[in-house]
Amino acid sequence: MTRLPRSKQILRADIAMRHSDEKWMAEAIKVGRQARVWSAPNPAVGCVIVRDDALLAAGFTHPTGQQHAEIHALSQIDDAVGATAYVTLEPCSHTGHTGPCVDALIGAGIVRVVLSCVDPDPRVAGKGVAKLESAGIDVTTGVLEAQAHDELKGFFLRLSRGWGRVTVKMAISADGRSAMASGESQWITGAAARADVQAWRAESDVILTGSGTVMADDCALTLRQCENRLSEADWQRALAKPTARAVVDSSATITHDAKVVSGDTPTFLFVRSDAQASTDMPSSVSYIPLDAQEKGVDLKAVFKLLGDKGANEILVEAGPTLVGALQQADLIDRWLIYMAPTMLGADARPAHAAVFKKLSDAPRYSVTGHELIGDDLRIIMRAAQDS
Ligand SMILES: NC(=O)c1ccc[n+]([C@@H]2O[C@H](COP(=O)([O-])OP(=O)(O)OC[C@H]3O[C@@H](n4cnc5c(N)ncnc54)[C@H](OP(=O)(O)O)[C@@H]3O)[C@@H](O)[C@H]2O)c1
Repeated sequence: MTRLPRSKQILRADIAMRHSDEKWMAEAIKVGRQARVWSAPNPAVGCVIVRDDALLAAGFTHPTGQQHAEIHALSQIDDAVGATAYVTLEPCSHTGHTGPCVDALIGAGIVRVVLSCVDPDPRVAGKGVAKLESAGIDVTTGVLEAQAHDELKGFFLRLSRGWGRVTVKMAISADGRSAMASGESQWITGAAARADVQAWRAESDVILTGSGTVMADDCALTLRQCENRLSEADWQRALAKPTARAVVDSSATITHDAKVVSGDTPTFLFVRSDAQASTDMPSSVSYIPLDAQEKGVDLKAVFKLLGDKGANEILVEAGPTLVGALQQADLIDRWLIYMAPTMLGADARPAHAAVFKKLSDAPRYSVTGHELIGDDLRIIMRAAQDS
């Protein structure tokens, strides 16, 4: 049998290792998705521990103060000596609510760590990699980096600009209308689309609406477990840490009997600092006063405050006034549009109230997904900062 020259043998070994690294990193990314429903303010990281191309354990981020993905994975096995850990984000090297993950990996006898993204958090930012390498661990970075970065987008945006990813959900007719002239909008889309929205709610850290929608619909904005792409286990995690609610309500018009302030889900009401706050709200409701501006409150300030509270993913479910203001201020990262096969007519309300004078002023997005959900078409469009 002819032997390959040594350089070609090395090349083949390299290609095989890259293949295997990508296969296991894809698995770590998939595992990390399970953390989306409860990890904020931490990122939804996934970790798999592998030896001899066999999976030993898989872990994902738990709520603040509990296990990070690496610790969750290591806690499931007695022996990780000689294994490789695949992690979607650089392991932490500092002591926060929990001890440093790099120490746990080193202590467990892991010999190789493969990463997708380096953590931009200044407390980590390369220090995790340096500590692993100084302990003699072989570290490879950048494997499936674009995919992992995409999964952790809200976290990365919050760290770089102060607030997380803003996704606007909207149910519209095929002629682009969001409600009848009377305000009636329940329901434009079918049951399957509404069940799909519940998964997006569960995977968001806060649902934001405007006082107009609260007045018109008396919506509760709570999580409703239903048949959708989330598993039973995902739902149990989501319900253990329900998505917070927020309303921009400049004049503090919402009263204690509104459904949006019922129950014990944390709820933030953004009001003008001179507005008269109600004194009989449940204890789960917090008023957040903001400086008055010409129209309502400063929406960037709202997002920054939600960022300070650790929201990586902000889901907006509002009417044309608030959505239009967000659009006009270029604050929308992603659209989640459910288009129903119906026409609501020329006097029905528009999707949003933003106005553009010229075609060249109208924003352009990239369509990154389209799928039929029941009878409705779900379209995902992303702005440049989210791509
Ligand atoms: N099809 C859908 O997907 C969908 C989704 C949600 C709602 N809707 C429908 O939309 C209708 C309600 O829409 P809407 O336009 O009246 O209400 P909205 O957009 O939900 O809320 C608008 C209110 O937000 C407050 N706000 C505070 N700061 C603001 C700012 N900087 N810019 C803009 N607004 C600010 C203002 O009230 P204050 O002055 O009190 O702060 C404003 O009136 C209802 O018919 C509802 O059924 C449809």
